[in-house]
Amino acid sequence: MKRILLLFVSVFILAGASFAKEGMWLPILLQILNEKEMQEMGLELTAEDIYSVNHSSLKDAVLIFGGGCTGEVVSNEGLLFTNYHCGYGSIQRQSSIDHDYLTDGFWAMNKGEEIPCPGLTVSFLIEMRDVTEAMLSEINDNMTQAEREDRIRINSKKLTEEAMADNHYKAEVEEFYYGNKYYIFIYEIFNDIRLVGAPPSNIGKFGGDTDNWMWPRHTGDFSVFRIYAGSDNKPAVYSPENKPFQPRKFLEISIAGVKENDFTFVFGYPGSTNEYLPAPAVECITEIENPISIDIREKKLDVMNAYSEQSPLIRLQYANKIAGIANGWKKWIGESLGIERVNGAEVKREYEKGFQQWATGTEYENILPTLYQSYKNIKPFRAAYRYFAEAGLGIEAVTMARKFAKLVSLSKETPQDTEAIEKQIASLKSAAKTFFKDYHRPIDEELCPILLKTYYDNTSAELMPDFFAKIEVKYKGDFTAYAGDIFAKSMFCDEAKLNAFLDSYKPNKYKKILDDPMYVIYNSVFDNYIDNVYPHIKKYQAEIDSTMRFYMKGQIEYDKEKTFYPDANFTLRVTYGNVDGFKPQDGVTYNYFTTLDGIMEKENPDIYDYVVEDKLKELYNNRDFGPYADKSDGKIHTCFIATNHTTGGNSGSPVLNGKGQLIGLNFDRNWQGTMSDIMYDPDRCRNITLDIRYCLFIIDKFAGATHLIQELTINN
Ligand code: ARG
Ligand code: GLU
Repeated sequence: MKRILLLFVSVFILAGASFAKEGMWLPILLQILNEKEMQEMGLELTAEDIYSVNHSSLKDAVLIFGGGCTGEVVSNEGLLFTNYHCGYGSIQRQSSIDHDYLTDGFWAMNKGEEIPCPGLTVSFLIEMRDVTEAMLSEINDNMTQAEREDRIRINSKKLTEEAMADNHYKAEVEEFYYGNKYYIFIYEIFNDIRLVGAPPSNIGKFGGDTDNWMWPRHTGDFSVFRIYAGSDNKPAVYSPENKPFQPRKFLEISIAGVKENDFTFVFGYPGSTNEYLPAPAVECITEIENPISIDIREKKLDVMNAYSEQSPLIRLQYANKIAGIANGWKKWIGESLGIERVNGAEVKREYEKGFQQWATGTEYENILPTLYQSYKNIKPFRAAYRYFAEAGLGIEAVTMARKFAKLVSLSKETPQDTEAIEKQIASLKSAAKTFFKDYHRPIDEELCPILLKTYYDNTSAELMPDFFAKIEVKYKGDFTAYAGDIFAKSMFCDEAKLNAFLDSYKPNKYKKILDDPMYVIYNSVFDNYIDNVYPHIKKYQAEIDSTMRFYMKGQIEYDKEKTFYPDANFTLRVTYGNVDGFKPQDGVTYNYFTTLDGIMEKENPDIYDYVVEDKLKELYNNRDFGPYADKSDGKIHTCFIATNHTTGGNSGSPVLNGKGQLIGLNFDRNWQGTMSDIMYDPDRCRNITLDIRYCLFIIDKFAGATHLIQELTINN
């Protein structure tokens, strides 16, 4: 087994021994590729301590939190830490004006007070295995991309079914190196997850969207949950009888603190990177896709933020939406700027010159010209997709209308399935309730003409959804007048109207849905996308996918000096580096850590993002820091940065020291470094970690949740 692995590694990855700090490594290959270097850098463990299928290892304490974050178990009673922004949706859903856990924080003082979070899940990786050979069986190079994908689906289904045959696990096959390698992942998924604690927003989200993606940072970005299991310690649906889950492994914590250059590693689920793209793909992102999304989101944020300033209710309703919109918006600005600064597309082109020389006369000769052409072809459709998704589907009432598509199709059937229709109505009633709880119609009404006009002004005639004709003809291009009319008429922006409609629904009334102006918009933008945009994306993307598979293989053969790690795909990875500051610009050096002093410096009672609680000020003024102050300067350290290569999905990931002890929670990157999803710049790319000592200080001293501290294993 090991020999086969070594062989694979030698031809496939280990083309040379040069290690950069960049990379998101597969835990299963750690021993061969990284163990030695990690130990030289300061790791005191073996690769087997980090990932093992035979013994409990650190991987058993790391989990997928919800749909897109990481978390870690920190006690033998299933207690877990993740980021505040990862728990944010759950905390917000449990909040109301009377119980505003966002503003006030929440702490369960005993297990009985913990709040179930329906829909929230936690997944543990049981095992991963290389299944490349089985996945590529009956596949050859003469197949079209579609034929290949069909076969891949069949092979993957077979493998996952086999893997799940006699257990309660969930198996998934994932592709690596653009389909040159495949691994199967077996997960155990828990669904009785309860909220245990969260600081108030002005700690958990301190600095808000102003500080988001920024260093220096002072955000106490953590929240605490607990996993519950059935009496057999296996996953179980919520029941008051369930017991705290006993994990195979939980993380010990170190409050010794970090120094510059200390070795750290991050163990978690990075979502997606694109490190091996050709130049035109990079340009498509930085010159077309990012600018479109940035522009549209800026418009949304202007309106939503202005309304949020006006009322605490609106602020609560739109907090989660604004956070999501702003997060991508700011990241893409940083990414485009970063790529521009290093002249990223040019750097790629230089590299490609060398590749092309090498490839001439080989099977790789036509790859780059093909890719260049495919990207040229796909560009206008990628742009159209952004307008469709960000602007067309950006109107909230349109997204509500969209949910009625199934009811329409059920109502049109003969004979009708009355049971299914009734079920659908019940589910729409509950969707409407959720939707209107966080809906402020004036925001939507004000944004509607702005979004539609942006869509219209930037779309060519052949890609234009047909409902725009009405605005041209009937409204003479007056988008505001059009919006005024449709908001007056539609039921999808009016809770009372929509409930009345659902209460008295009969299948023969489905025409009323079809005629509703919000549904008309949904239908029109969606049909237009399906008929005029998607077929082109599908075609060119298939070309790109099959060519990228060869290009990836070619790059590995060509660039023998480089160790290739697979792009992130939301599978478990290890990334490692050193604690380190950076120089954002000439004459400026950023320190590697921040302290509570900085929170007091940033304090501004008039700006929502910079309000500091009296209790925190009191602890600060009295230097009441418990055991959590730094040994050398006596201060509470809040955050630190290091050179670990991380991305979205790594939020909440444990940041560990050389002994494998928890020293912090990863929660962000610096703005100057968000380009690392496309190109890693060791001078500038840093991950931002919440210092575990600040987290414990808040739980212990600020919230007084000492019972939680007692559950942890803390080393000095
Ligand atoms: N930038 C971090 C990450 O991508 C944190 C996002 C949440 N915080 C916020 N202020 N929106 O996800
Ligand atoms: N905040 C990000 C997340 O939610 C992590 C930051 C990053 O993109 O590196 O996963």
